[in-house]
Amino acid sequence: MYLDTAATSPVRREALEAAWPFLTGTFGNPSSHHEYGERAATALSDARSRVARVLGMRAGDVAFTSGGTEADNLAVIGISLASERGRHLVTSPIEHEAVLESADYLRRRHDFDVTFVDVAPDGTVTPDAVRAAIRPDTALVSLAYANNEIGTVADIPTLSAVAHEHGVPFHTDAVQAAGWLPLNDLGADAVTLAGHKVGAPKGIGVAAIRGRLPVEPIIHGGGQERGRRSGTENVAFAVALATALELAEGERPDAVARATAVRDAFLDSVLADAPGAFLTGSTSDRLPNHASFCFRETSGEAVLLELERRGVTASSGSACAAGSDEASHVLTALGIEATLAQTSVRFTFPAEVTPQHGEAAAAAVAASVRALSASFL
Ligand SMILES: Cc1ncc(COP(=O)(O)O)c(C=O)c1O
Repeated sequence: MYLDTAATSPVRREALEAAWPFLTGTFGNPSSHHEYGERAATALSDARSRVARVLGMRAGDVAFTSGGTEADNLAVIGISLASERGRHLVTSPIEHEAVLESADYLRRRHDFDVTFVDVAPDGTVTPDAVRAAIRPDTALVSLAYANNEIGTVADIPTLSAVAHEHGVPFHTDAVQAAGWLPLNDLGADAVTLAGHKVGAPKGIGVAAIRGRLPVEPIIHGGGQERGRRSGTENVAFAVALATALELAEGERPDAVARATAVRDAFLDSVLADAPGAFLTGSTSDRLPNHASFCFRETSGEAVLLELERRGVTASSGSACAAGSDEASHVLTALGIEATLAQTSVRFTFPAEVTPQHGEAAAAAVAASVRALSASFL
């Protein structure tokens, strides 16, 4: 049973079928001024409009990138470097590495000051924390919509409104939110998406940045994507992303209802039956399909191995950190001690999860943790 959809999910058949013509017969380069090129350009422009519609933004705002990481880099570095306000960036210590490392690059190579807003132990950021961090020279505020490790959801419309009170642009990484949370009324100036989290292939993403905002490109070349992202566009995958995103958006109400019920029963059962289990992240403001725990007196890797033996695939937190011995930067920033943070395990359910899956997974977790607790005694 695959319970790691926050890491990636399979490509949907509809997305692949929509992409197929643009990998074969309609293979033109959208910049070419002949029939092949024009057909590809039309498909790309249609994909752009469909993504923009889901985001409640304009087609011209949408730039296709190689994925979520590049989109975060373009939004954080591109908007900050083009800003005339100054060299100060506001973000949080629990962002994805794509945002944190972009911030660190700005600090190291472009003399930026970076302020990390205070985050509550459940991963929540308050409007006051953002207000307190903003300065006259702040170029950008970047805060994720939903945290990949602990599932905590931020109130983006309110937080972006705080940035706007001070005339500061706001970026949100919505990679984990897509398909689970509303995307069309965020009030953000820049939004990041990644195709492979919603049923499109890996290697395609979106940096949607409002047209009026100046952006310094990070990839230079032929000036595609309105000069914001050079390189021949991946038409087929852009079409796949638009298709998968639209489908996920249409199915969202049912998926949310189904996953929330399964996830809540799973949480109750794990907390009751797995010795030493405690929930990380928020109990209320949480992605519907997300459950993350620490299991005191165990090790996350050992729990994962026991789970795998019982047919359950989960992860220790973020896929990027998997395999590293370091405790998660997210959990330690929330005040969880490093050795305890190393006992973390994340379960992220697919949209089509059933109550039977949830029950079987909870039983496997309890059995795995019990087996380990016995061996640790
Ligand atoms: C919150 C978040 N942002 C960005 C990314 C990076 O996206 P990609 O894998 O498409 O580069 C991920 C992927 O795990 C993510 O969870």
